[in-house]
Amino acid sequence: MRRTIVVVGTLLLGVGAVMAQQEIAVQQDNLMRSQAKSLYTVIQKMTKGDIPYNQKAVDEALTNLEADVAKIAKTFEVNPKQDVVNAKFGASQKIWQNKADFDSKIPPVQKAIADVKGKVKDVASLKAAYTSVNDRCTDCHETYRLKLK
Ligand code: HEC
Repeated sequence: MRRTIVVVGTLLLGVGAVMAQQEIAVQQDNLMRSQAKSLYTVIQKMTKGDIPYNQKAVDEALTNLEADVAKIAKTFEVNPKQDVVNAKFGASQKIWQNKADFDSKIPPVQKAIADVKGKVKDVASLKAAYTSVNDRCTDCHETYRLKLK
């Protein structure tokens, strides 16, 4: 009886840990998706003319992006050791073998955003801003993001 309780308890703890790990992976993915919303759904679409240029939306997108990027280091502190179920992209285990190098990819993104913030005034300057920020996102993805499907 006592043994059964211990076994069931251990199993429950195991399930809890797996769920917590999936939750961490989801949080990390959600942060990236939120960044994508600002940079791709708003800014990139405007550069392509898919949606009309809107100064307020540009300024908001850059402000949101800045806030999100500042959360990357902390959000990726814990290794979830699993991917989000059905995700297209996953986090490389290299992140947690070399977290300092991973973190070093963040300030260049912040600098690219700071450099263009308040200076974007039209589609042409938005295009330049998009490229300079996106190139810095890519610098991290090349090493630390895995394509799963
Ligand atoms: C310091 C590293 C790093 C930086 C900087 C970074 N990312 Fe990521 N990104 C990752 C990792 C790791 C993943 C894969 C794991 C995940 O999705 O959480 C990822 C995944 C993504 C995904 C795929 C999400 C999905 O599952 O569909 C998008 C979109 C994305 N990032 C956008 C951005 C944008 C936009 C920026 C720049 C503003 C950016 N990222 C900056 C590390 C980074």
